[in-house]
Amino acid sequence: MIETRGLTKNFNGFCAVDRIDLTVKKGDIFGFLGPNGAGKTTTIRMLTTILSPTSGTASVCGHDIISESIEVRRLIGLMPESPGFYENMSALSILQFYAEFYGIPKNERKKKSAELLEIMGLGDFMKKKIKTYSHGMRKRVALAQALINDPELLILDEPTGGLDPQGSYSFRQMIRGLRDRGMTVFLSSHILPEVQQLCNRVGIINHGRIVAVDTIENLANRIVARGKRNIFVTGEGITAPMLDEVARLQGIMGIQPYETGINFVADSQFDLAPEINRILVTGGARVRSIYLSEPTLEDIFLSLTGDEERG
Ligand SMILES: Nc1ncnc2c1ncn2[C@@H]1O[C@H](COP(=O)(O)OP(=O)(O)OP(=O)(O)O)[C@@H](O)[C@H]1O
Ligand SMILES: [Mg+2]
Repeated sequence: MIETRGLTKNFNGFCAVDRIDLTVKKGDIFGFLGPNGAGKTTTIRMLTTILSPTSGTASVCGHDIISESIEVRRLIGLMPESPGFYENMSALSILQFYAEFYGIPKNERKKKSAELLEIMGLGDFMKKKIKTYSHGMRKRVALAQALINDPELLILDEPTGGLDPQGSYSFRQMIRGLRDRGMTVFLSSHILPEVQQLCNRVGIINHGRIVAVDTIENLANRIVARGKRNIFVTGEGITAPMLDEVARLQGIMGIQPYETGINFVADSQFDLAPEINRILVTGGARVRSIYLSEPTLEDIFLSLTGDEERG
């Protein structure tokens, strides 16, 4: 559904997207991950023919993004990062407008628009002006708009950005529902647990370059193969000087503090759990639990985007 070769975008000499090769297959829910400024939106804007590449090629739904951009646009649905709507129009009239744009017959436009808005949970609001809509409601209108032409491929740029837990959950359910109906989904995100739950394959982009494309499972295995393990510690009274001392142990590759505890990323060649326990207890902390776990998508992401490495 998507095949890019050396896709590149320069902005005045700055390379935002650097020779990326990506393949997305029919039926995938493909997660496009990367830190802020990595080049996700720029890539999406090229795939959706909004922006033309500086070099390289891409085919989307079997059509070239440059020479067959009209066909591409007809076959895809895009939910942009920050959709701009006419504030004085209602959701229903906006959808009918797009329905007309896609050549949907006049007598079907209203019914189809209303149905989609109903599915998005906007049934009671669809005749109200967009300016009265909350952020979450606007996101729902944007998804409805992306679906108006029954796309083969749905491209979502940070679909759940700024949504509350219920809103994100219902978005994920909708995306799963669309996949089950045969739609291919390409979504960008930096919400890692979301991608872990939703996507069968991920591509990770950093500074405009693809650093990995694989299933989450294979990426995790790669990291284990490179000898990384998590040591997750919970307890009270763990202080920064203790963490500094742990950080100096041979084999410690990263320290990630969470609400619930601290994750130490460690070289699996070393048996570091007893050492970590000793440092914390000697320092006066109360250690409640220590457990070892496999890498999460967050570990994979941090490891591949280089923010975790401490040398
Ligand atoms: N029109 C533009 N002109 C100049 N630079 C741009 C333009 N659009 C994007 N960039 C730059 O390209 C880089 C990639 O931006 P992009 O919006 O693709 O990142 P992103 O991965 O979507 O980030 P985020 O997670 O914050 O949405 C950034 O450094 C950005 O400043
Ligand atoms: Mg973006």
